[in-house]
Amino acid sequence: MAGKCNALIPPTLLIMLTGTVMIMMEAGTSWASNSPDYADALSKCILFFEGQRSGKLPSTQRMTWRKDSALRDGSDIGMDLVGGYYDAGDNVKFHFPMAFTVTMLAWSVIDFGKYMGYWDKKHALEAVRWGSDYLLKATSVHHVVVGQVADSNGDHNCWERPEDMDTPRTSYVINETNPGTEVSAEIAAALAASSIAFKASNAKYSAFLLHRSKQVFNFADGYQGSYNLSIGEVACPFYCDYSGYADELLWAAAWLYKATQEAYYWEYLEQNIHHLESIVVRNIHGNPYVGASFAEFGWDAKHAGINVLVSQWVMKDDSNDNPYILNADKFVCSMLPESPSKSVTYTPGGLLIKPGGSNTQHATASSFLLIVYSLHMSIAHKLVRCGDVVVTPSRLINIARSQVDYLLGNNPLGMSYMVGFGPKFPRKIHHRGATLPSIHKHPKKLGCRDGDKYLYSQNPDMNQLTGAIIGGPAGDDSFSNSRMDVGQTEPTTYINAPFVGVLAYFKATARKNVGF
Ligand SMILES: *[C@@H]1O[C@H](CO)[C@@H](O)[C@H](O)[C@H]1NC(C)=O
Ligand SMILES: *[C@@H]1O[C@H](CO)[C@@H](O)[C@H](O)[C@H]1NC(C)=O
Repeated sequence: MAGKCNALIPPTLLIMLTGTVMIMMEAGTSWASNSPDYADALSKCILFFEGQRSGKLPSTQRMTWRKDSALRDGSDIGMDLVGGYYDAGDNVKFHFPMAFTVTMLAWSVIDFGKYMGYWDKKHALEAVRWGSDYLLKATSVHHVVVGQVADSNGDHNCWERPEDMDTPRTSYVINETNPGTEVSAEIAAALAASSIAFKASNAKYSAFLLHRSKQVFNFADGYQGSYNLSIGEVACPFYCDYSGYADELLWAAAWLYKATQEAYYWEYLEQNIHHLESIVVRNIHGNPYVGASFAEFGWDAKHAGINVLVSQWVMKDDSNDNPYILNADKFVCSMLPESPSKSVTYTPGGLLIKPGGSNTQHATASSFLLIVYSLHMSIAHKLVRCGDVVVTPSRLINIARSQVDYLLGNNPLGMSYMVGFGPKFPRKIHHRGATLPSIHKHPKKLGCRDGDKYLYSQNPDMNQLTGAIIGGPAGDDSFSNSRMDVGQTEPTTYINAPFVGVLAYFKATARKNVGF
């Protein structure tokens, strides 16, 4: 499962496990301040997505310990749902976070593809397409959106390789009477963003994606309701829709506006933006955000992303009266350590922390937005004011860079949180495929619980899931280094997706931005 709620492991057990194997940080540790190799990190960050592939793998597959899997997905409802991405350390295809992953991969290519270089850009587009091809399949029937494939509880009861799976691969359907606006609208956003990413290299595919995106958006908007109500028994508690679906509708409209420049989508934004403020937005613990929704951005809440995305069309020099700009500024002020309205915390070593599991998702997604906003600010000659603190575009870049450098090894433990990057990296991750011997090494089937001895083993992973960024350290910079600590050692696709854009930016510009 993924990192919002550690539903399968009781908190006491987590604490116990964390306590016994915790690596203590020595007092007064200082750490190296050399720049990490951003180019190497970028290539690996993209490669990770090959390790999460479901379906029939192509001959070009580079992560070769993975093989074909889930080749009958969709057969229960007469659809072809082969492909897509496994969400995290499990083998479920959760379409809500998967679509967000594809949106962020596409945004990474759109804004930062020019910095990637030929091969990384090619592989990044392949990563987008592995997702967008699948989302086309999930939306191929009129007014039907497949919202998830695989029974999450069945999947989580087994520790199996994807290639061996014998757990129920049930398809869960959203339709006119079974609503699921958040997952449908996020898929519309992903298809629109992908259409922009492919516009230059494959105009025909791009047009097809855009056409489908519009259809899915109309369906999402026309038949509203949370997927909590229709497929909540399998989507929740893993990916409950905590923050409502008004944000996904606006997010999809913003991406469709970016893709088409059609007035219809702009007017949709203008007419519905107030819904963002009026709904009671809840965080992943179910507690209301109390008016701070502008600070949220992730697989569930799109608020800050909408404001930053739209800011490119409405930002003019230093006049800040536009609501999108005001809210994007508030997001920035919620992030900066020196801001009087800061709402996040930082570890002593400097990593951004927000409540909930899989914390690095916040570091990567927020860094992405800070860089994008900084670039918009530079073009418009704009500054952000947080109380008396004046924030320049380069300050946003510095914050983002501090997060990247921390994740890549510039931290008190001197370890990178990306598998396969640098001399010291996670070797016991919460990921079924990585822990179990490959099909090549162990061709015989490993059944539901045959994998337990690997899960509970203290030995390093059998396979290297290169590029995976795991949930990351605790608030005091300590790291449990335990497979059972799901929140710290599980990778997810939506941790990596925004990091692709962030790393591309630093690969190209690192030398120009030295010093704080
Ligand atoms: C929607 O899906 C549900 C569950 O599969 C089904 O019972 C219902 O008839 C469908 N509604 C429509 C309008 O197709
Ligand atoms: C979905 O379910 C979760 C968990 O029960 C709840 O906290 C959330 O408010 C629900 N969301 C909507 C939009 O009803």
